[in-house]
Amino acid sequence: MNILVIHGPNLHLLGKRQPEIYGAETLAQLNCRIKKRAAALGVKVRIFQSNCEGAIIDLLTAHAAWADALVINPAAYTHYSYAIRDAIAALALPAVEVHLSDISKREPFRKVSVIKPVCLAQFKGGGAASYLKALDYLKKK
Ligand code: DQA
Repeated sequence: MNILVIHGPNLHLLGKRQPEIYGAETLAQLNCRIKKRAAALGVKVRIFQSNCEGAIIDLLTAHAAWADALVINPAAYTHYSYAIRDAIAALALPAVEVHLSDISKREPFRKVSVIKPVCLAQFKGGGAASYLKALDYLKKK
């Protein structure tokens, strides 16, 4: 099984970015955990981070033929990117949306996910565990 993992905008700043919300772990450390879990599950992963909406859509398009499934943290795009939502729907990639924080318990604008309707599941509030749960979930599918 091949899983494409995409981190959205500002997640390159993990470790420095509001650690009280997003934790002290860097993106490199998070990616290391994702790779370890993937190896334990016997799953191949390709991991990318981008701050640009169009670049995320290009990544989805470029890797869609390789990927059996997608794990995406669209970050702030979660709340308003109909373009990323349309790309996931268009490519018919089985997708899971993940968030480090619990977006349902934060500011009102974060409670809305325009991505959720095109995903099989959403895991939030678990820090790195949200990503690991997504891998476990997709492996069992
Ligand atoms: C986030 C939550 C989003 O609201 C925010 O814009 C992010 C990170 C999370 O992982 O908790 O950048 O997706």
